[in-house]
Amino acid sequence: MMSKVLVLHGPNLNLLGTREPEIYGHETLADINKELEKQAAQAGVDTEFMQSNHEGDLVDAIQQAASRGADFIILNAGAYTHYSIAIRDAIAAITVPVIEVHLSNVHTREEFRHKSVIAPVVMGQILGFGSDSYFAAMSVAIRKISARD
Ligand code: DQA
Repeated sequence: MMSKVLVLHGPNLNLLGTREPEIYGHETLADINKELEKQAAQAGVDTEFMQSNHEGDLVDAIQQAASRGADFIILNAGAYTHYSIAIRDAIAAITVPVIEVHLSNVHTREEFRHKSVIAPVVMGQILGFGSDSYFAAMSVAIRKISARD
């Protein structure tokens, strides 16, 4: 069975490309997903992508990650990062490792973005590199998967 990375995008990330491009860049979510898919495929790793504006959908996807064959999760929880205890608890409840990703450097922005309630339950965080945050996260996931196999 091929290893798989599940990429989860939270609220408002469907608007990438037009959403505050000075902060989030000009690439669309489809552009980023396509690039991630290519990067993983080159390493023989399968990908699955999901974007939702709804907290419960993200909780469901995290809960179901293992049964859907995911070996790793790359998660940009968007604004839920800063206050969703439900998403934090879902991550804590599973054994699939999660990499937290942000396009922007949240620590240089508003105070309310400085706190990540999911940070204590993820494997690590990558932030502030625009879409390269996702590509760096994919690179980590691929390396961890191949070190394990
Ligand atoms: C974000 C940062 C969050 O604070 C914000 O609510 C987002 C995007 C990022 O990728 O930089 O929606 O997660």
